[in-house]
Amino acid sequence: MAYETDVLIIGAGPTGSTTALALANCGVRSHIISRGNWMADSPRAHITNQRANEVFRDLGVAEDVARYASTWELMGDTTFTTSLAGSELIRMRTWGTGDDRRGDYLRASPCGMVDIIQPLLEPILFQKAAEKGATFAFNTEYVRHEQDADGVTATLRDRLDGREYTVRARYMVGADGARSMVVDHLGLPIEGQMARAGTVYTVFNCDLTKYSKHRPSILNWIVTPDASFGEIGMGLLRAVHPWTQWIAGWGFDISKGEPDLSPEAIIPRIKVLIGDPLVDIDIVRTSIWYVNQAYVTQYSKGRVLCGGDAVHRHPPSSGLGNNTCVQDAHNLGWKLAYSVKGWAGPKLLESYSQERAPVGKQIVLRANQSRLDYAPLNACFRVPGAENPVAAGIARFRDPGPDGVAARKAAQAALDLKQTEFNAQGTEMNQRYESSAVIPDVDAKPEEWRRDRGLYHQPTSRPGAKIPHAWLVDRDGLRMSTLDVTGRGLFTIVTGLAGGAWKEAALRLDLPFLRVVVTGSPDAQDLYCEWQRIREIEEAGVLLVRPDGVVAWRDIEGTPDASAALDRLSAAIRTVLDLQ
Ligand code: FDA
Repeated sequence: MAYETDVLIIGAGPTGSTTALALANCGVRSHIISRGNWMADSPRAHITNQRANEVFRDLGVAEDVARYASTWELMGDTTFTTSLAGSELIRMRTWGTGDDRRGDYLRASPCGMVDIIQPLLEPILFQKAAEKGATFAFNTEYVRHEQDADGVTATLRDRLDGREYTVRARYMVGADGARSMVVDHLGLPIEGQMARAGTVYTVFNCDLTKYSKHRPSILNWIVTPDASFGEIGMGLLRAVHPWTQWIAGWGFDISKGEPDLSPEAIIPRIKVLIGDPLVDIDIVRTSIWYVNQAYVTQYSKGRVLCGGDAVHRHPPSSGLGNNTCVQDAHNLGWKLAYSVKGWAGPKLLESYSQERAPVGKQIVLRANQSRLDYAPLNACFRVPGAENPVAAGIARFRDPGPDGVAARKAAQAALDLKQTEFNAQGTEMNQRYESSAVIPDVDAKPEEWRRDRGLYHQPTSRPGAKIPHAWLVDRDGLRMSTLDVTGRGLFTIVTGLAGGAWKEAALRLDLPFLRVVVTGSPDAQDLYCEWQRIREIEEAGVLLVRPDGVVAWRDIEGTPDASAALDRLSAAIRTVLDLQ
């Protein structure tokens, strides 16, 4: 049976659209379906971290994302306040914008952070993928699938006329979100718990510039008796379009069923969070979402592979949702492309789950832990047993007496704990893969973490880590990152001027997906000596960097012997790609 497409992708959210773009960049056909009429119609994910921006840079959409996003600077302070207009209790420098962290973030990546909502992000990915040949069908529902040794036959339903039809593809991707039918149909193993808490979420228009402009802050936590239920125990005012569109959120008791979501019930509560009864609130939509803590431990079965919220389901705390989806897709895209092109054996696709499932588990646990970590902060703002614990807690926090001193002192430690949510560059950037597509160093010792693994990025060229960022200089004197001369759908060998044997080996191999970068050459000058400082290999050594920027193998010392280099390089490539 002929294939109608190479890869059928179920779901047009960040996971599906990024997968389509990665495939399109490699010249591989994909067809994306979504049961929706269009892409995301509510803000949902915002925080876009450095690693996700590196993925966008690699896929060629970073400039478009930056054009539509709120800037890194606007993400600046996170406030803990009695209301947006009211007096503040504590402020925190977040997302790497603090004086103590800015250098860490700038050193780690050519990309900063930005804040972009899904209705703006998804069309960027969609448009670029479509321009490069991906096809899309909205109002189209996945019904079921069957797979055999050569491909997948999926039954789809056109929601406009109810007609069912089949599509034959070499592979299928389940990117169908947290209620994934594809994961259910495959019977993939899931651990954890769904819907363990609930949140009311209202998007509204209201010009609050006068309360925000002086302290740019996209996240404001409101300490008030009116929104003190649940683990976080505070209300949220989250800027969508600074400072005229917002999200208001607060926890509710799921044991009592769904709360009243009528404007009459919602608007007074939002006014309390703002602290100004006279503002005009135009509600765009109110919904509720549930806090999940669930992860799939095996992401694929045969020719069907799943990614994104389908396999990791967790709350927005730490802002890891969309970011992780995009990275799943980046990991999967090139592996599917190489499999379709016949450049890889079956083990390459198996490495997707080996690499991403541990990351999925880690971020599900991290996001849920970030909610629990509000407890010490809440304790500073509450007096248990008081008639109104939060009101009494706020009064105590300002009291000059010993109870106030103790509460303010405790707040400092409580804020230090929140660094693990709001300045967690390590959580975002320190992924390490162990799989069949990574060859560890001979006699590799466990990595030593020089600073806290969750808070600080640690650059390394150890196999399984992404290539460290360093600024190189091109022939015209322009700066470019080591990330700019690797990736882009190709394998790259990175060596120095003394590594001529590797260049010769690569030329002799003559593979369509292999390029060579010689640092120190006119095209990749290491003028700042940054690369030399962090590369962890000798100048005659070599890194084999995968299309997703991950170091697959390295030879630290190198060899002057071209035929030895050829043997080592071709053996490494055969192992990583599972070629006989
Ligand atoms: P996503 O759910 O986005 O997309 C699923 C796709 O599959 C859709 O196109 C859907 O139409 C399609 N689909 C589903 N079933 C189908 C079927 N049977 N047939 C055909 N198509 C089907 N994250 C974060 O990092 N920060 C944040 O602040 C927030 N905030 C937030 C708020 C709210 C209210 C929600 C619901 C979610 C968040 N998130 C978040 C999470 C973030 O939105 C989430 O991680 C990503 O959207 C997941 O992207 P996916 O592409 O995996 O699934």
